[in-house]
Amino acid sequence: MDWAEWHKRYESVPSLQERLAVVCEEISLAISATRTKPVRILSICSGDGRDVILSTAASKLRKSISGVLIELNPDLVARGRSTIKEFSLQEEISFQCSDATKSETYRSIAPAHIVVLSGVFGNLKYEDVGLLIDSLRSLCEPKARVIWTRNLNEFGDGETVVGGIKKLFANVNFTEASYTKTPSGVFAVGTHVYEGETLNLPARPVLFRFSGFWKVATDA
Ligand SMILES: C[S@@+](CC[C@H](N)C(=O)[O-])C[C@H]1O[C@@H](n2cnc3c(N)ncnc32)[C@H](O)[C@@H]1O
Repeated sequence: MDWAEWHKRYESVPSLQERLAVVCEEISLAISATRTKPVRILSICSGDGRDVILSTAASKLRKSISGVLIELNPDLVARGRSTIKEFSLQEEISFQCSDATKSETYRSIAPAHIVVLSGVFGNLKYEDVGLLIDSLRSLCEPKARVIWTRNLNEFGDGETVVGGIKKLFANVNFTEASYTKTPSGVFAVGTHVYEGETLNLPARPVLFRFSGFWKVATDA
């Protein structure tokens, strides 16, 4: 998949625009709900980072935000960096052009108060969704909010998988803060709160696999 090309869909696909709007709203709510400053935001497979950048730019607390966006595609990182400059957010948000699936990527990143997983779960086998959710316990501060999305239509498995995703979160001490279907019903956007303590990173070097394989079998 050419992910830089894929991002052009934001210009013409209403369902993606709707998803972006809901994700931005959830990020803004999560920024307001976080008592600690700076508010640390981590976006995994961030793409060009438009959700975090736009929410931060619009926030009254923008000067108290510290965002790290992890993205492997250098073109998207370059594009995102130029948007950061456009909004004069160089002090607040930075990109890390690295592999988000590897444990070592997170070694120098402090646990976050907000973790964004937009457009990620649909690219993971169900088993890897579980591994990623399990790993979030090492990437989250206590009471951190994880904002996630899942396509409900494209892969013919949406409602089943979303039920499974919710169970996977519950199994590792997350509670649901909100769940929204976008107006066209194409995407689910959820926010889960971590109720535990931050754990050490798992010993395995690969936290999850980004397979782009989305025909998932679920037993959940
Ligand atoms: C569906 S897009 C979502 C982008 C963005 N989060 C959004 O919602 O617009 C998936 C993104 O994951 C990135 N990606 C794929 N494998 C990755 C990896 N191993 N590490 C970091 N990013 C990766 C792709 O380059 C792409 O930008």
